[in-house]
Amino acid sequence: MDKKNSRIEEQLSKRALLGNKRSLSLVDKKLIDFSSNDYLGLARSEGLKNQILNSYENLADKNGSTGSRLLTGNSALATEVESELAKLFGYDACLVFNSGYTANLGFFSCLPQRGDTILYDELSHACIKDGSRLSLAKSMPFKHNDLADLERKLKLSEGEIYIVCEAVYSMDGDFAPLKALCELSEKYNAKLIVDEAHSTGVFGKNGAGLVAELELTQRVYAVIFTFGKAMGIHGACIASNQTVIDYMINYSRPFIYTTAPSPFEFLSIQQAFQFLTHHPDLAIRLKENISIFNQTLETQRPPRYLSTSAVQVVITSGNLKAKSTSKQLQEMGFDVRPILSPTVKEGEERLRICLHSFNSKNEVLGLAHALNSLLC
Ligand SMILES: Cc1ncc(COP(=O)(O)O)c(C=O)c1O
Repeated sequence: MDKKNSRIEEQLSKRALLGNKRSLSLVDKKLIDFSSNDYLGLARSEGLKNQILNSYENLADKNGSTGSRLLTGNSALATEVESELAKLFGYDACLVFNSGYTANLGFFSCLPQRGDTILYDELSHACIKDGSRLSLAKSMPFKHNDLADLERKLKLSEGEIYIVCEAVYSMDGDFAPLKALCELSEKYNAKLIVDEAHSTGVFGKNGAGLVAELELTQRVYAVIFTFGKAMGIHGACIASNQTVIDYMINYSRPFIYTTAPSPFEFLSIQQAFQFLTHHPDLAIRLKENISIFNQTLETQRPPRYLSTSAVQVVITSGNLKAKSTSKQLQEMGFDVRPILSPTVKEGEERLRICLHSFNSKNEVLGLAHALNSLLC
């Protein structure tokens, strides 16, 4: 063992022994996609690609943004896209970040301050937890979607209180009880923050998300939208009131100390939302596939996994079982990936199935029947 690397080599070997050592692999394009977050097929859309390339050709701008938004990285295009997004999402203002990961870091590391409290759902994405760890505020998880546990913790909270949830949970596919969370946040004068990573584009008019669909915009303090999933491109934004956005422009280190997204990226965001406006059929087709899958799958699933979102979960328990079942499915032509511990809790290892608007009815039926034969 190389002496300099001995400690980290040991840790990697331990992972290999537990069956959860990660490595990078290429996607087998021959398999039917049931694992990407490209829920509406925009990442593979020739129509959107041509639209982006045509508009890019006419753009008199630099290739790269050349600096932070606070220095040379700002542009008329960036501010135009942000004001279009704010209008779409129903908020005063919007700020674009390089990714959903940095958007959450950017928000939670700077808005909640010393003496404040962040209460986040225990199943929140790593970037919500990492952002909260960077904050000087105290942070505490509450049990997943458990309003009674949240209320107990609200009673113990100090300073300004931030409640954080995901509209659709990334590894579970279930929904946050958004209306009840609004009521509870109002009762305790807390600010509710919703991450719409897996609902952007899929729900709401023109892809404006679940908060908008449920008409809760006025009651939710800030929303994080990401563009690397159903929108088929890359990047993210935070929508809120103008003061919050001004504050982040001044204090949010993941926004300030990084090169701004390129003009191509801003243009892609603009074109992807325009494309969606003209293709409302995509979200409808996705919903049809979700309902075919749910009607056909016989594998017993706890009620919270009977979701009407694009993310469907089948618990297998154990890394080895999750890996062997996904391998069997891949041999049958379905690209389904296992989600292993420690990404999810031990005992809750699973298959995470992503349904798409472009999956044919026969493909969805085929996968559900394969799961029935492997797991029932
Ligand atoms: C709930 C949630 N928030 C944020 C992110 C990060 O977004 P991005 O991939 O754009 O960094 C993810 C990514 O999987 C996510 O699931």
